[in-house]
Amino acid sequence: MSTVTTASATREHRVTVRSLASRKRKAEPFTMLTAYDFTFARIFDEAGVDVLLVGDSLGNVVQGHDTTLPVTLDEVTYHTRMVARGVRRAMVVADMPFGSFQVGPEDAVRSAIQLVKDGGAHAVKLEGGRDVADSVRRIVAAQIPVMAHVGLTPQSVNHMGGFRVQGRGDEGRHQVIEDALAVQAAGAFSVVLEGIPADLGREVTELLDIPTIGIGAGVHCDAQVLVMHDLLGLNDWTPSFVKQYGNLGAQASKAARSYVDEVVHRKFPDEEHSYR
Ligand code: KIV
Repeated sequence: MSTVTTASATREHRVTVRSLASRKRKAEPFTMLTAYDFTFARIFDEAGVDVLLVGDSLGNVVQGHDTTLPVTLDEVTYHTRMVARGVRRAMVVADMPFGSFQVGPEDAVRSAIQLVKDGGAHAVKLEGGRDVADSVRRIVAAQIPVMAHVGLTPQSVNHMGGFRVQGRGDEGRHQVIEDALAVQAAGAFSVVLEGIPADLGREVTELLDIPTIGIGAGVHCDAQVLVMHDLLGLNDWTPSFVKQYGNLGAQASKAARSYVDEVVHRKFPDEEHSYR
């Protein structure tokens, strides 16, 4: 097989905005996971995860901050580059951090271009509903696919008065629905629904033509997303909606303890692990 044929065959199997739209039409759920580096991007891509999100959650799980607010555009760009190198099939979505789009649509377009051009992202995600609809429209006009994010938006932690479930009560439900409709009308190709009651997740999913991607938004969303550290059991604490599919934190601790023990007792390196 020629190189050209191989390259085009690979491209055909890539996850795209069109293939995700088709998954919604066929009612076939898809998956998104966060990733922040080459190694995990490669593992998740090979495992069949459809979308890798370079989330600004890197502020929490990589940098050790309490919120995502300190994360910079250059930091997300840097992590996106690493993730993009590890991927053959998955779509890479780069999160637009706090401060990279709030000033206005022009700033938003400039930031989105950086994430695509320097980071290698296939799409960008930004938090907000009606308030960011103009920015969504302008980024899409620059030919960059936009994933929106409504409900509990962590960059609004100070405004919300904490990380609180959104969309409760008639007024709360109305706000989330209006936000989701606004970003769809602005041209977003998908929308993350975070921290809302499951029945509202279902209602929004049925109402929208674009795929919904839930995190703490119930089983009826078109797709699900988790932060990789939660999925793998690398965090001390996880929210109640998280299911831990692995226990890598405990395994890493055990491996490090064994290493320390063997080195201090001169058991490592042994004959097998020494050059002759
Ligand atoms: O930053 C992030 O990881 C996210 C997901 C939780 C959706 O926005």
